[in-house]
Amino acid sequence: MVDDSEIAQIILPPHAIVKGGNDIIYAWLARYQAAKSLGEDVVNGTIGALLDDEGELILNSVVGQVLNDLPDLDKGAYSPLPGLPEFRETCQRLAIGPKLQQLRDFGMKTEAVASPGGCGALYLSARNLLSTSESILVRSTYWGPYKTIAEECGLGLVDWPLVSQNSDSNSAVDQNILTNRIQSLISTQGRILAWLNDPAHNPTGMSLNAKERKEVLACFIEAAKNNPDSGVTLLLDTAYALYANEPHGWTDTIIESIEDWPSNLLLCWAFSASKSHTIYGLRCGALIMAHPNKEFLDRMVPMLVHTGRGTWSGSPRMPQAMVSRIHNSSELESSWDAVRAGLSEMLIQRRKLLLEAGKGLPFDPSHDGYFAHISDPNPVELCEEIAARGVYVVPLSKGVRIGVCSLPTDKAARAGEAIAEAWRSLGRSED
Ligand SMILES: Cc1ncc(COP(=O)(O)O)c(C=O)c1O
Repeated sequence: MVDDSEIAQIILPPHAIVKGGNDIIYAWLARYQAAKSLGEDVVNGTIGALLDDEGELILNSVVGQVLNDLPDLDKGAYSPLPGLPEFRETCQRLAIGPKLQQLRDFGMKTEAVASPGGCGALYLSARNLLSTSESILVRSTYWGPYKTIAEECGLGLVDWPLVSQNSDSNSAVDQNILTNRIQSLISTQGRILAWLNDPAHNPTGMSLNAKERKEVLACFIEAAKNNPDSGVTLLLDTAYALYANEPHGWTDTIIESIEDWPSNLLLCWAFSASKSHTIYGLRCGALIMAHPNKEFLDRMVPMLVHTGRGTWSGSPRMPQAMVSRIHNSSELESSWDAVRAGLSEMLIQRRKLLLEAGKGLPFDPSHDGYFAHISDPNPVELCEEIAARGVYVVPLSKGVRIGVCSLPTDKAARAGEAIAEAWRSLGRSED
């Protein structure tokens, strides 16, 4: 009898056989659940979805109601391939914010194509803004699926530091390294695609401030101006933006620099409704584009629709219809927003308790959103030591991720204390 590995060698081509699932989060969640079922007093910081203080998944009640009330057509029919027209407009308002019209008045044209979640939007950009075997520019700590999406598109990743090591500057942005990375990719590829997960970065919770955003954008504008024959695309992955203190800070930054916008610079947003509308599984997002030339954006739409058609066909219609309905009724929108604001407040509270209890530990900058992260050379060892104190968090490749979104508020301080004790017991150095 031949074993599974021999069968795999025979049936699967080499590029497929090397693929692996990412089940580390589920593995640590399973450990939490096993301990809990044995009656142990344990804390869950493993999950990447908002849980209430009893550990139940939160669905924004307005979202739930509007989904239930949708007509059958929106429940069962296909969506037009680029997305429902009202959704394509609504998602721009959600991603770009109340200054969308101002941005347009300054001469920016905008477009959007629906995608299955923010992940689909990232995929659309990877598939169409670079050629196979090129690399996407990301920051040094990034959401793991960035690598998976890049690999599925035959692309690599090149990174620049999440936090500047230059202690003289009071900025997290190392403009020298960023400029060098952009220039070197432009030199080898003739174009560049950068993914920037901001605000409320996963896994750290870091958000750039106004000065730092300006520094980042300046590097991209400069590179575009210095290389007028090279394409420069900056994509903002704003998956957690509606739980950030400045959800649309990037729009302000862009408006400040909008005059004299280089025509080889394209700006995109990977919009995701997964977190803002608590509909992780409904797969609702969009790739949003801004550029001064409308005809250019008009060309992008069928190109992106082609990729969608050949990958997932169309995007789900039901969540698009729900999002459009909520945001085209001021009453529904304000009810939805009241729930969202309450959830934001809960995250702020949990993060504060966690970081205060873990004071002195070298947490990565952590301001907004779902997560906090502590860099560590041996994350599994650290997680084991934390778990020995009844708190379950997740070892990632460069450190430990704490799901602020899943920690019960009254256990957030205990989680911080457990991490601090574990850290000290392993003899790790303090800040
Ligand atoms: C950094 C980041 N970007 C994008 C996404 C996209 O999420 P979705 O495809 O569910 O919209 C996620 C989801 O976890 C994320 O963490």
